[in-house]
Amino acid sequence: MVIIDGLAVFPEGDDKKPAILFVHGFPFDHFMWDAQIAELKQNYYCIGYDLRGLGKSEVGNGQFTIEMFVDDIISILNTLHVKKAVICGLSMGGYIALRAIEREPERFNGLILLDTKADADDNANKIRRAAAVKHILTNGSAGYVKAFVPNTMPDSSVKKLGTGYTGMIERLILASPVGIAGCQLAMAARTDTNDLLLNISMPTLVMCGEYDSLSPVFHMRAMAGKIRNAEFVVIKDAGHMTPLEQPEMVSSIISTFLNGLFLSK
Ligand code: MLT
Repeated sequence: MVIIDGLAVFPEGDDKKPAILFVHGFPFDHFMWDAQIAELKQNYYCIGYDLRGLGKSEVGNGQFTIEMFVDDIISILNTLHVKKAVICGLSMGGYIALRAIEREPERFNGLILLDTKADADDNANKIRRAAAVKHILTNGSAGYVKAFVPNTMPDSSVKKLGTGYTGMIERLILASPVGIAGCQLAMAARTDTNDLLLNISMPTLVMCGEYDSLSPVFHMRAMAGKIRNAEFVVIKDAGHMTPLEQPEMVSSIISTFLNGLFLSK
């Protein structure tokens, strides 16, 4: 692990190989990509990190914005001397990835989106997040995390993960209340990136879990349809946390996509 501007960053593989930056979902941390990075690091320079406020990264005052998360990405790439990377983001990580390529297009040469949206929050979602922030800051992280995480995957995935699921909850309840409340505020204030979709020309892979209830298949299919030549894949027997629920399948689809970009040339 290296610390860059207070962020815990986990580069793996050969830094001479094409770089892939992994941006995890809320309220998870870099471990979400462990299976994918274990496979992809043979051929790629894989950079996982913990978003500010989560995992082992600095929390600070918790006043986060998506712009700050994009600043963090640029700072990681600069510090690791990576000129261009493929950016791979899930859910909140996807919100950040979309804004990153909108703001800093010259730093990215491919886009992988999983279980995410380009829409900003509507009023109902903003109010739901405000209630979550109040709850988290009043009662701490544990109750919120225990109630939230089951919404991200079907019972079949919870059963399949077994002790891995309980271990994951034990890890996530340690998240700082200020950190997770800050992420909720950043998401509530994010911009809409639908216009960007029509202008994306870099190679793009979009994936969605068959049972994702937070960013459902019909929604993601329409989103992928706005991106020129995007490849869209539905991951069977998975909800919103596809890399954890179907690790081998997700790794193999990402690997095929990246090999098509880099190894066939
Ligand atoms: C996530 O999985 O990152 C979050 O559920 C996204 C959100 O709350 O909008």
